[in-house]
Amino acid sequence: MDAAPSGDAGLERLRADSYDMVLLDLRMEGRTGLGVLEELRRSGNDVPVVMLTGFATVDSAVQALKLGADDYITKPCDNDRLRTKIRTVLARREPVLGPGAARIAGTGTRMREVIRSIARVAPTESTVLLRGATGTGKELVARAIHEESPRRGRPFVAVNCSALAEGVLESELFGHARGSFTGAVADRKGLFEEANAGTLFLDEVGDVSPGMQAKLLRVLQEREVTRVGTAKPVPVDVRVVAATHQDLEKLVEEGRFRADLYFRLKVFQIKLPELRKRPEDIPALASAAVARWNERTQDASRRVAGFSDEALAIMAEYDWPGNVRELMTTVEHACIVCDGGRILPSHLPEEVRAGPAEERNGGVDSRPGESGRRYQTPGPEMEREAIRLALEEADGNRTRAATLLGMGRTTLWQKLKEYGLDS
Ligand SMILES: Nc1ncnc2c1ncn2[C@@H]1O[C@H](COP(=O)(O)OP(=O)(O)O)[C@@H](O)[C@H]1O
Ligand SMILES: [Mg+2]
Repeated sequence: MDAAPSGDAGLERLRADSYDMVLLDLRMEGRTGLGVLEELRRSGNDVPVVMLTGFATVDSAVQALKLGADDYITKPCDNDRLRTKIRTVLARREPVLGPGAARIAGTGTRMREVIRSIARVAPTESTVLLRGATGTGKELVARAIHEESPRRGRPFVAVNCSALAEGVLESELFGHARGSFTGAVADRKGLFEEANAGTLFLDEVGDVSPGMQAKLLRVLQEREVTRVGTAKPVPVDVRVVAATHQDLEKLVEEGRFRADLYFRLKVFQIKLPELRKRPEDIPALASAAVARWNERTQDASRRVAGFSDEALAIMAEYDWPGNVRELMTTVEHACIVCDGGRILPSHLPEEVRAGPAEERNGGVDSRPGESGRRYQTPGPEMEREAIRLALEEADGNRTRAATLLGMGRTTLWQKLKEYGLDS
């Protein structure tokens, strides 16, 4: 165990050595705890951090969580409470260690929640539905679920349902018998059979036709497939992970997606937030992209050392409409043009340097013209999180939670209802 007298001294230690955990005081001489935390995460260091905060600073505690702290504890705290807190934080971190999830970067609370969900559902046989915009990492998560499951080492088969016409998709998924249609020159196994004992990833499942929906539902219920042009069903042992960027609830409402299939699929859902909603992950993702580049680059002189502060700041401000995929290709492009050394703003594409598209267009959605990082903007989401945390901190005691929040009891009661936290 080591103690550092100031934030900067602490950062120096953390750069020099690796630690299991950091207890970080919010208030310090010089750089504040939040400043230290931000710097730490910005440099890609993912060490577990517990913030020590005063009573009246739940706001800062929430901000700390947004910046990638694991948890916080209010002062004064005795050793017992501290010990329990440290134990829970370390236990929560544990699932991240699986090699299957190792390629998933991101240090923010939302990504940790995703990783925890993966760890929880992977060992089961449950069907999983991944929701999220394109490029948010659905396929990566599907693979991680497979790799973290007892089915690892067996096939992982991915199929993009929106790319194929109905007839083609049917014979791709279920196989066909020779002569069942023009061009079917031989018997052929479908992807369900190919994935036997493993995992089948049905990407863009929200785009399949009503006919295919019925057939998919049958497979999920009966666990058997019938090849096109045959009558005899074949049993299959396949774990299904599905994904969609569509608003399935709306599709169900409009009668375009079968409710029964929807309920089959959504047994366990994982939502991948858009990158603009979790800018705290940008530094870690960008570092991961550089690491990928360096791994693949034979010529040592072309390896990239990292980012200049300015380049990182620009990337943190941009809104990434193409999500993580866009970030990955942007960094790869920068690695190519920077030709070794550090990535500078000039290596980033024009549109990234120009800043968030919605601000440029002056749209109604544009954020207030603040100069700081976007992820410090408070909002209802943050308030909900603050309340949830305060309740946790107060072991469910609402009066104490209200004191922690500096909020009247009646106000808290109302907000609990409003945010659905009053169960
Ligand atoms: N959390 C993450 N950590 C590292 N790489 C990621 C992460 N999320 C996405 N990626 C990368 O971004 C790209 C797009 O991800 P993908 O899983 O194909 O997204 P989706 O299926 O949602 O469109 C891939 O190269 C993937 O490896
Ligand atoms: Mg995809």
